[in-house]
Amino acid sequence: MKILVTGGAGYIASHTNVELLKEDYEVVVLDNLSNSVEESIHRAEALSGKSITFYQADLLDYETLDAVFKAEKFDAVIHFAGLKAVGESCQIPLRYFDNNITGTINLLKAMEEHSVKKLVFSSSATVYGHAKEMPIKEDAPLSAMNPYGRTKLIIEDMLRDIYASDNSWDIALLRYFNPIGAHESGEIGEDPNGIPNNLVPYIAKVAVGALDNIHVFGNDYDTPDGTGIRDYIHVVDLAIGHVKAIEKLNSNPGLVTYNLGTGVGYSVLEIIKNYEAACQKALPYVIDPRRPGDAAVCYSDASKAERELGWVAKRGIKEMCEDSWRWQSKNPNGYNK
Ligand code: NAD
Ligand code: UD1
Repeated sequence: MKILVTGGAGYIASHTNVELLKEDYEVVVLDNLSNSVEESIHRAEALSGKSITFYQADLLDYETLDAVFKAEKFDAVIHFAGLKAVGESCQIPLRYFDNNITGTINLLKAMEEHSVKKLVFSSSATVYGHAKEMPIKEDAPLSAMNPYGRTKLIIEDMLRDIYASDNSWDIALLRYFNPIGAHESGEIGEDPNGIPNNLVPYIAKVAVGALDNIHVFGNDYDTPDGTGIRDYIHVVDLAIGHVKAIEKLNSNPGLVTYNLGTGVGYSVLEIIKNYEAACQKALPYVIDPRRPGDAAVCYSDASKAERELGWVAKRGIKEMCEDSWRWQSKNPNGYNK
């Protein structure tokens, strides 16, 4: 089975490529390398001992997209490509709408044109907005809190409309909670540009000596230690979730939606403590004010994925921190050796 992986040089996709190749899927990556490097593709090839076809192309370029579909004859698409920085999306919303929404429309047009009607979409827990009830189930109310989140919600809505109009599509909306960690080899991992926005990549930079202090955004939340609680999920578990979703699409389920999380929440201070154990050093932190827009607590009910996909996150917080640290310490400058 031949799979197009859009955004296939990125963080989550590079781990998914390894899991797909392991299961003997043929992988074709399309990525404009706006937030990644080709090296991640070569490392996924080396880890699996199999090859990946790579097109450096932009989803905004319909002609090239069409030509790739013509040349390759895909059976399914996993659509990771998109811009994902929440803060940046508030500064340049139009760029996010264009890249994420127009890019997806182009992809869907090409899929329709070439009769490829199996799609796995990278959605996010952000579509739940500030959820009132924990753990969050898939049928919780949806809302957008920022332009990035709005792109995810709009794309989900578009996919629901497309499915309603033509139920020969099979679509899996995967709502990720907080992916962290890296492949256990330390060969592939998260390599953000500039100063990381997210907690674990920031901690990793402090651990490797590239940044001075961790900034804890608020210790006055209504949580046991006052810091924010999130559902962190190992990126390899998340990657395996995509393989399970592809298997599911092969049984023609129609449009299905799954939370991919562990169902367990950890506070910022608990993550720091676990990371200290992994890197075996004390990590200095300062308490800053709350980051605007942050919820106190967010964790999933992932039981639907367990029931319907036979998927469950197996790797715990210790492995997430150890694997993140192995990647970061082996590659202090990311893929840019
Ligand atoms: P990433 O930035 O590492 O990967 C995204 C990839 O898409 C990059 O390689 C980038 O170059 C590529 N890309 C972006 N726009 C493109 C375009 N127009 N044409 C072709 N390629 C393009 O991000 P990631 O963390 O691996 O996230 C993958 C997907 O999962 C994204 O859609 C993201 O919104 C979603 N997601 C991520 C998280 C997270 O915390 N990492 C959480 C929930 C959802
Ligand atoms: C982020 C995205 C969200 C996406 C989610 C899924 C932002 C603002 N939100 O969520 O859209 O759906 O990933 O992966 O980027 N924190 C610190 N110091 C830091 C960074 C973070 O204390 O330097 C705290 C935050 O307040 C939060 C927790 O750590 O309590 C996790 O933050 P982060 O890693 O940025 O992820 P989210 O904000 O949960």
